[in-house]
Amino acid sequence: MTNAYKIAVLPGDAIGPEIMLQAVRVFSVLQEHRDVSFELIEAPFGAAAYFEHGKAFPEQTKAICDDADAILKGPVGLSHEESQKIPVEEQPERGAILPLRARYNTFANFRPIYLSPDMAHFSPLKKEIISDGIDILLIRELVGGLYFGSKDRGINSEGKRYVNEALEYTEDQIRQVLLVAFEQARSRKKRLHNIHKSNVLMSSVLWNEVLAEVQVEYPDVEVIHQLVDAAATALCLNPGQFDVMVMENMFGDILSDQGGGILGSLGLMPSACLGPDKAYYEPSHGSAPDIAGKNMANPYSMIGSVAMMLEMSFNLKDESAMVWQAMKSVFEAGYSTADLSGSSEDVQLVSTDEFGDKVMQALDELLNA
Ligand code: NAD
Ligand code: IPM
Ligand code: MN
Repeated sequence: MTNAYKIAVLPGDAIGPEIMLQAVRVFSVLQEHRDVSFELIEAPFGAAAYFEHGKAFPEQTKAICDDADAILKGPVGLSHEESQKIPVEEQPERGAILPLRARYNTFANFRPIYLSPDMAHFSPLKKEIISDGIDILLIRELVGGLYFGSKDRGINSEGKRYVNEALEYTEDQIRQVLLVAFEQARSRKKRLHNIHKSNVLMSSVLWNEVLAEVQVEYPDVEVIHQLVDAAATALCLNPGQFDVMVMENMFGDILSDQGGGILGSLGLMPSACLGPDKAYYEPSHGSAPDIAGKNMANPYSMIGSVAMMLEMSFNLKDESAMVWQAMKSVFEAGYSTADLSGSSEDVQLVSTDEFGDKVMQALDELLNA
């Protein structure tokens, strides 16, 4: 019997639709070769949805996502100037992304920072630092902390404007993401970097208390505590020390973009956002308005997000591995998108579409073999 999956596809803004167009081709190629079928249902989300429907996350999109087995989301958002045309509460970050995360309680955000040894030349780091490539799984808590804490703005008794934005966590919220991180560490190198700021933040003190409780169940996993500021430096100077890293929401936002930096481009950063019942998949980066409409965005992050969905939502492990392999083979053949091409003179520059064409051809061959 054919395995049939329903996927909500949210193309997003700026480069979103461009890279999504390439990513969804993976489903067509797989269907041709395997006993599996994918029903893709496209839905408006983000700034485009606001301008068309008056809402960044319209009701019809919520219904489509509720009904889907998994959600594939392109980046959303506009340039700073264009964003001002949308009321603050409907700007796609607050009006769409955060409500999507809250709706499905996608508390565990997997942001792999990965570069195979033969792609190491894309990194701005020296060869001697990353001769073995980079292979880090950054796990970011995604539905708590400053992003979802109470917020208050006003005028104080001295007539001055003030803002109050709280970093809030319950012990259950902390425990659930730590459990995921320990499980991942156990299945990999049994080494977990706990990234925190307990020398200043009470939230980190509680985080570390809960970690100590969870740790008892994982005596086989070595825990290394590292302050978040020091971790930022270590990511540049010695990324090889990291295997699995876990951290609260805001720390993870910042350090995962730094992850893109040490790889050579945010275009190499896919991600998975996992909740108890539903997962959604998106690149870690934004909508890159600076390169939108030019057919030059790197679709690796979007195609990689499909690969993560195949493995994590549908248990299609071999097929997922083939998608990664197909992308790797295109780079190995000397092709590169513009974001990565500065690192070598030998690369042959390809557009978003051409990269997609080559990946699909390679995938087709792998599935035929
Ligand atoms: P960005 O991640 O969009 O871009 C930062 C830099 O990385 C730019 O130079 C861009 O060209 C480059 N880049 C990013 N993805 C790339 C790709 N696939 N290929 C080649 N180059 C790529 O960050 P920004 O400019 O600060 O934000 C733009 C908008 O995106 C903002 O509105 C922001 O809020 C939003 N945003 C959305 C998400 C999301 O949807 N999850 C994530 C981050 C930012
Ligand atoms: C990300 C983005 C989002 C975040 C924004 C756009 C809400 O930067 O997914 O990393 O800060 O989480
Ligand atoms: Mn971010």
